[in-house]
Order: sequence, then structure tokens, then C-alpha cells
Amino acid sequence: MNPEDIEELKRKAAYAAVKHVKNGFVVGLGSGSTAACAIEALGGRIKREHLSLLGVPTSYQALLLAIKHGIAVTTLEEHDVIDVTIDGADQIDPKMNLIKGMGAALAQEKIVASVSKQNIIIADESKKVKTLGENGHPVPVEVLPSAIAVIKRRIESVGGTPILREGKGKVGPIVTDNGNVIIDAFFGVINNAAELEVKIKMIPGVVETGLFIGLANTAYIGTPSKVEKI
Ligand code: A5P
Repeated sequence: MNPEDIEELKRKAAYAAVKHVKNGFVVGLGSGSTAACAIEALGGRIKREHLSLLGVPTSYQALLLAIKHGIAVTTLEEHDVIDVTIDGADQIDPKMNLIKGMGAALAQEKIVASVSKQNIIIADESKKVKTLGENGHPVPVEVLPSAIAVIKRRIESVGGTPILREGKGKVGPIVTDNGNVIIDAFFGVINNAAELEVKIKMIPGVVETGLFIGLANTAYIGTPSKVEKI
């Protein structure tokens, strides 16, 4: 599928998801190219319907897009309960467990998701998998820079192959919005994602993992013929 067609699938999923937003809502604003479609669509609804909404951005990207599309922003300090969050994902399994974090925003995304009454995931159909980790997909892990070597060894000891993610447009490792780095941990097919999540989180120096277990309630998947709702 060419990039324009994939973009259209993302857009369709995003438009379906933003229909859940009601006047007065506090909305979690996800990160990545699909979530960007939702932020744009939300901005459109605010203009057309004169909605009063507050957005909680999950990254600098989401913050800048919210400003661009006229969405007033707030923080978790001011609003620690969120009505609905709309975010993308890198992989979605049939139970709606996810891998996220290829955009390196996983820590803030997971905090926002954890306090959201409803978490809606939007994606094109390429993100659907039978089992997380399929197709050699890694689990992104945000870590303190001082602990890179230690955490790499510990990831190996739980069966993963760790690769420090390199930046694009900068030399050296990518640096997250929180000043940390990302280790992509390759496990192959993950048979027990909940157990793996705990094992990785137990490693000192790990800030967050990209395994999102039991957090998503609803998913809209864009396909060429329709938007599938899970
Ligand atoms: C950001 O850290 C990620 O969790 C994104 O939500 C995820 O990578 C999906 O991004 P795309 O919508 O760009 O594929």
C-alpha cells in the first residue's frame, strides 16, 4: 500500500475516534503520526462545534500540534483524571494489549492512559498482530542514561536482545522528552506479555516499557473498506 493510502486509513480511524469526545471533556492527546490525525480532527470539531475541551499532551509533538490546531492544553497536575485518550500503537493483539513507543513517548503516554476513563487506540490495519513481538518487533524501553550498560545485560538475562536506539538528525542515541534514552529490546514472539512487562519494570533504572497491558478499551482500525471497531 502506498503512503497516501496508509495515511487515509489512519485518518479514517482518527475521525471515528474523535466522535467519542463530548463538550467539556479533558482529552489525552496521543503521539505519533496516527494520533496527529486525531489532534487535527479534534481541532476541526472545536472550530465547527465551538466545543470547550482541554487536552493533555503526551509529548512535545502532541503539545505543538494541540497549539497548532487550537486545542487548549492542561497538565496532569491540574487534571489527573482524563475523560478519554486517543492514541496510536505499534502493535495491537486480539486482547487489545499493545506495543507502543516507536515514537519514544511511551512513558508519558502510559501515565496519561493510566488515568483515562477510556483509552481509544487508532491505527491502520498493518498494526494488528496475533501475538505481540511478531515480525521481529521490539519492545521499546525508556531508561536512565546512567544505567544503559546494566539494563542491557539485564534485558539479555530475561531473553531479550537490547539495541540502544540511535537518533535521526542528531548523533548518538535518541533522547526522550524526559531526557532519557530508549533501548529497543527484541524478544521475538511474546507469549506472556504481562509477565514480561513486570520483569522489565523490575530492573532498576527502567523508567517505562512500551508494553501496554489491559489499558485500551476500544480500538478503531482503518482498513480500505471500513473502519473496524474492536
Ligand atoms: C509514540 O511513542 C508511539 O507510542 C506511537 O503512538 C506509536 O509509535 C504509533 O505511531 P504511528 O501512529 O506514527 O505509527
